[in-house]
Amino acid sequence: MTPSRRLLITTGFTISSGALGFAISEWIERRTIATSGATLPLRGIPGIGGPVRLTDHRRVRVDETTFQGKIQLVFFGFTSCPDVCPTALNLISDLLDRLGPDAAAFQPLFITVDPERDTTEVMARYVEAFHPSIVGLTGTVEEIEGVASAFRAYFKKVPSQSGLGYVMDHTATIYVLDRQGVFRATLDIHESPDTSLEVLRRFTAPARGS
Ligand code: NI
Repeated sequence: MTPSRRLLITTGFTISSGALGFAISEWIERRTIATSGATLPLRGIPGIGGPVRLTDHRRVRVDETTFQGKIQLVFFGFTSCPDVCPTALNLISDLLDRLGPDAAAFQPLFITVDPERDTTEVMARYVEAFHPSIVGLTGTVEEIEGVASAFRAYFKKVPSQSGLGYVMDHTATIYVLDRQGVFRATLDIHESPDTSLEVLRRFTAPARGS
C-alpha cells in the first residue's frame, strides 16, 4: 500500500467515524509530522473545502470560485500572532521566491481567525509586509466560522496576560489545493523548507499536472 493511499483510507475512516469536524484538523496536525509532503490522490479528501464568503484585503468579496485555476496555499491565523503566523508567512514567501516564474501558478491565502481585530485595513498592512502575492481574507465572525468549518480548521480565543487581552489558538497547517480547488496536500512549518518546496514543485511539474 502506498503512503498516499494509506493516507486517504485513514482520512475516510476519520471522517466517517468522527462526528466532530475538529477530528480531522487534529488528525492533520498529528499526521503531518509523520507524512507531510504526501500528495493525495486526485480526488482529494472529501469534506475539506466548501462554500466560502469572505472579503479580501482590498475589500473585494471572494468565494470558493475566485481562486480556481491557481494552486492555493491556505493558512489560518491572525495578525497579532507572535510566532506561528509570521513563521508560516515567511515560509510561504520564501517558497514563492524560490519557485521563480512558477510562483505565478500559486495563490497564497491568509485567512484571519480574529476578524474582530483583523479588519481589511489591518490585513492589508500585514500581508503586504510579507509578499505582494499573499491575499489576506477577513469577514464577519459567522463567515470566518464558516470557512474554518469548511477546512476543518480549529481556532479558539484564549485570554492572554499580554497587552493584547486575548490571543487565538489555531490550526497551523498550510493546506494545498489544486487548480480545481481540491485539497491535495499539506505543508508543515516545522519541516525543512526544501521538503515543502518539493511538494509544491509536484503541482507544477509538466508530467504530473494538477
Ligand atoms: Ni498564529
